[in-house]
Amino acid sequence: MIEGYSEEEFGAEIHKHVRPSKPIDTIELLKGRQSELDEIRRALFADGRHIFIYGDRGIGKSSLAQTAAFQYQTSDASIIQIGCTKTSTFLDTMESIARRLIDSLDATEIQAKGGINLKIINLELTYKTTNKPETPKITTMDQALDVISDIREIHSDKPIIVIDEFDAIINQEERFKFAEFLKKMGDSGIYVPMIFSGIATSLDDLLGGHLSSIRQLKPIALSPISWDSRWDILVEALEAFNINFDEEIKYRVAGISDGFPYYVHLITEHLLWAVFDDQDTNHTANSKHYIRALENAVKSVQEQIRKPYDKATIRHSQDFHHIIWAAADSANLHRNIDSMYASYERILRDLSRAEHSEKIPPIDRKKFSQRLSTLTKESHGSVLRKMSESRNGWYQFSENMLRGFVRLLAETHGVQLWLEEAKVPKQLIHPRPQTLGGSARHQSSVPYGIGLKDDE
Ligand SMILES: Nc1ncnc2c1ncn2[C@@H]1O[C@H](COP(=O)(O)OP(=O)(O)O)[C@@H](O)[C@H]1O
Ligand SMILES: [Mg+2]
Repeated sequence: MIEGYSEEEFGAEIHKHVRPSKPIDTIELLKGRQSELDEIRRALFADGRHIFIYGDRGIGKSSLAQTAAFQYQTSDASIIQIGCTKTSTFLDTMESIARRLIDSLDATEIQAKGGINLKIINLELTYKTTNKPETPKITTMDQALDVISDIREIHSDKPIIVIDEFDAIINQEERFKFAEFLKKMGDSGIYVPMIFSGIATSLDDLLGGHLSSIRQLKPIALSPISWDSRWDILVEALEAFNINFDEEIKYRVAGISDGFPYYVHLITEHLLWAVFDDQDTNHTANSKHYIRALENAVKSVQEQIRKPYDKATIRHSQDFHHIIWAAADSANLHRNIDSMYASYERILRDLSRAEHSEKIPPIDRKKFSQRLSTLTKESHGSVLRKMSESRNGWYQFSENMLRGFVRLLAETHGVQLWLEEAKVPKQLIHPRPQTLGGSARHQSSVPYGIGLKDDE
């Protein structure tokens, strides 16, 4: 129970602190990205410089891009933000930017600025007809440059453009045009900074070797957030409601999240509701609430994240659950068969102890290896991929963000996949494999022995 809030007030207040499904746009909520923010701020002191933030899906690219842009943009206007899609082209995107510029002006501004001679947007016409100007057609690079010039002229003191999800653009030629444009902007002396973000392991993936290294572009690679930052999200949210909590909870949530802030937000959100719902306790988060939070978090993980996992496990042999868990059992993103097999055997031991069941017989190493290979197939969600063709027996997750879901799910079965990682004071964590609070409520939902077509 949490006194003093109606359900509605509580729900509204929660979302001031945790937002699993929306990028962060304020510095107070952006955890563990101070050095990146400093780097971006400093890079943008130089006219002609642009930023490219890249990393895994869900690592926090849009959040950093938005927060950095809000810091740069003067308060006389809001940032210009564009999301890319599969079919976006360079020229369309510039047209959308022109549209955003027009939309950012209200009637009085249009009147006041009506006399300014702009390059591509015709405000004067509008001023006379009181209609909003049409979006100009942009058909050349020079016209795209005119859009930038008009932004400089009428948008605000320090405008900035955010181009999000750049990786979505399928056509490589179109992506290259953006980099060419940045060079052109540099030569022209007209400048509005752009912050790009996109999923990639290196900028080469998106822009090609030649264009990814142009001097106008500062790359910022994002890694998982630190242990302290993971705690900050949870601790600040609990403290905002004066909730006392078991220290162990914060280590567990941080470990499960694997440095993806989404999971910390998601579990914290459900933890807060679990405390709110419990009439028997007051302003306290204990192991019971934590377990409830995990169960509800598993259920509400975004469909799109868990889809490959479901594809690999539903209607397939139950081994696949445990093999995927084994692959997520380490801070290392790249794993070889031997270390994953060792994880697998440990996981089965822990599982039978946690669920007070018979020991599940492990599959042998040969079959394990075959199953790993199967997990790279489309039929099994392409959960894993081979690290490279030349390094036999090494695997990684196709989407690192899935590792957090796997850890979350394993934890609801009393199996921890993060215990070996740094920063966790061992004395704080119950010896594995006991579920926090010793609960035996967690019956395995992992089905036994169905869909054995994998063994054919
Ligand atoms: N530094 C951060 N501190 C706190 N929460 C964050 C941070 N970065 C991202 N988040 C949260 O994580 C989730 C994913 O972030 P997002 O920026 O959308 O990732 P990406 O654009 O890389 O897919 C969002 O719920 C967001 O609120
Ligand atoms: Mg994003």
